[in-house]
Amino acid sequence: MAKIIAVTGKGGTGKTAITSLLIRYLTKGDKVVLAVDADPDTNLPETLGCETSKTIGDIKEYMHDERDNLPPDINKESVLESKLYEILEEMPGYDLLVMGRPEGSGCYCYVNNLLRGIMNKLVNNYDVLIIDAEAGLEHFSRKIFRNVDDLVVVTDGSRRGLRTAERIRELVGELETDISNIYVIANKVTDANHEKIAGTAKELGLELIGMIPVDEMIVERDLAGEPLFDLPDDSAAVQEIEKIAQKLGL
Ligand SMILES: Nc1ncnc2c1ncn2[C@@H]1O[C@H](COP(=O)(O)OP(=O)(O)OP(=O)(O)O)[C@@H](O)[C@H]1O
Ligand SMILES: [Mg+2]
Repeated sequence: MAKIIAVTGKGGTGKTAITSLLIRYLTKGDKVVLAVDADPDTNLPETLGCETSKTIGDIKEYMHDERDNLPPDINKESVLESKLYEILEEMPGYDLLVMGRPEGSGCYCYVNNLLRGIMNKLVNNYDVLIIDAEAGLEHFSRKIFRNVDDLVVVTDGSRRGLRTAERIRELVGELETDISNIYVIANKVTDANHEKIAGTAKELGLELIGMIPVDEMIVERDLAGEPLFDLPDDSAAVQEIEKIAQKLGL
């Protein structure tokens, strides 16, 4: 069984940056890794330095459009499965799957149902599945993944970020997805807000598993439009991610 980790949190807190650095960490080991960009805005490939073209959204659209044109005796699940393998990007040390979003406004329930079965099967090919989730918990309420081992909520130094983490924790009880553990990572931490964050997390009963400082190397790469995947080992964020990954048992 793959260990499933989903990274969520308020918008702009660093979910994608943290996911890509956790993937960077995982590629140094020998685990078989599947990275999933579940944010319809699709930012993960860029921070990983990976060019992808097709997304699950495209496949959904194809299946939706071709549903009535496919020969009646053809197994729709097999068609979808083979399409999925076509868009699975094989990168050095990990595979990448991008959810994207279908262009159309139709109902994709039929494809989503098929997809769920296939995803839950696909998961068995991997040791670790790491998901860059969107800011809300949409995907989980739609139950693409039946269970998640670790839900990692990223927050920044703001009280609002921590409140979001608290709200996500409350929301988890209402989801149809089983979530075993909820952890919080504080990102873009400075000397000025370090203690305040730790204090507020404690007050809210959130399990803080790491505090990542504002990293000038990330800021520079961001400005230059360069990926974060190949940040050097001495980057402050990379070093903190290493400790977090170990706490997550990666
Ligand atoms: N530790 C850090 N130090 C400095 N800059 C950072 C750090 N972490 C993230 N950033 C920057 O903050 C911005 C937001 O990060 P990121 O895109 O990872 O957030 P996100 O939560 O995925 O956003 P969205 O909700 O839009 O998906 C980016 O410009 C990123 O480079
Ligand atoms: Mg993002």
